[in-house]
Amino acid sequence: MAIDIRPLKGAFVGEVSGVDIAKPLTKGDVAAIEAGMDKYAVLVFHGQKITDDEQMAFTRNFGAIEEARNVSVLKPEEVRLVTGMNDVSNLDKEGRPRARDDRQRLFGLGNSLWHSDSSFKPTPAKYSILSARIVNPKGGNTEFADMRAAYDALDDETRREIEDLVCEHSLLVSRGSLGFEVTEEERRGFSVARQRLVRTHPVSGRKSLYLSSHAGSILGMPTPEARLLLRDLVEHATQPQFVYVHKWALHDLVIWDNRQTMHRVRRYDESQPRDMRRTTVAGDGPTVIQQAAA
Ligand SMILES: [Fe+2]
Repeated sequence: MAIDIRPLKGAFVGEVSGVDIAKPLTKGDVAAIEAGMDKYAVLVFHGQKITDDEQMAFTRNFGAIEEARNVSVLKPEEVRLVTGMNDVSNLDKEGRPRARDDRQRLFGLGNSLWHSDSSFKPTPAKYSILSARIVNPKGGNTEFADMRAAYDALDDETRREIEDLVCEHSLLVSRGSLGFEVTEEERRGFSVARQRLVRTHPVSGRKSLYLSSHAGSILGMPTPEARLLLRDLVEHATQPQFVYVHKWALHDLVIWDNRQTMHRVRRYDESQPRDMRRTTVAGDGPTVIQQAAA
C-alpha cells in the first residue's frame, strides 16, 4: 500500500490515503508525509481509529513531542489524559461535558480565535496532530488559513514594512481579549515569547505571516498601532480564498504545520461531548532571540 495525497484545496490541503497510522510507519511513509506537509501545510487522514499510545508513537516520527505544561488552567488532579496528550475536548475527568461556567471550558473558548499553537512559547510548535474520538453533533468545524498564500498576496510596501518586525505572544493576550480573568499564580505561569512576524519555511523557502491571537504587541511600536496592524493582517489572512473548513468525521486525523497556518474551532453544542485529542511536535528552535533574563 503506497501513500497517495490528493489535493483538497489547491496546494494548501491534501487528503492522504494508503496508510494505517495505528501501525509503525516505514521510513518511506514518514518521508512521504513530511514531503506532503512541506507542500501542503495541512493533511487530512480518514478512518484512523487510534489509541493515545498509537497517536504519540505516530507523532514521534516527526520529532519530539512538545510538553503540554502551563497551557491551561487545569490543576494536576483534573487532567484527563496522559502526559504528551493535549486535551482539547469539552469533557471533565469523568467524561462529562463541562458546565457553562467551568473555568477550563471558558479558557478553552480561546481556541475559537485564530491562532497558531504554542506561539506563546520561545520555541513554538512545528506540527499539531488532532484526532477525532467523539464528534459533536452540531458545529465544531476547524478552519485553517494558509499564511503563505496570505503573505504572497500582500503588496510590496506592506511586505517591506513587516519583514523584520518582532511580536510578543502570550496566552494572556488571547484569553484577555475574551474577558477571561486569570489568577496571579496563573499569570506567572504563562510565558511571553518573541516571534518574527514573517517566517521562512526551512524546506520550501516560502515566506509566511506568523500571526496568532496570542500576539499583543510589536517591538518598537506603540501598542494600539501594533494591535491595529495585527488585526489588519489577520483580517487579510483569513479571507475565504485562504481558508479551508474541515468538517470532522469520527476517526479523522488532521496534521497542520503551525509555522505556515493559523486555525480556529467554530462553536458547537457544548451540552454534548466533543472529544478531540492533540499531540504536538516541538519546533526546531526560537524564531528570534528572546529577551535576556532580568
Ligand atoms: Fe489550536
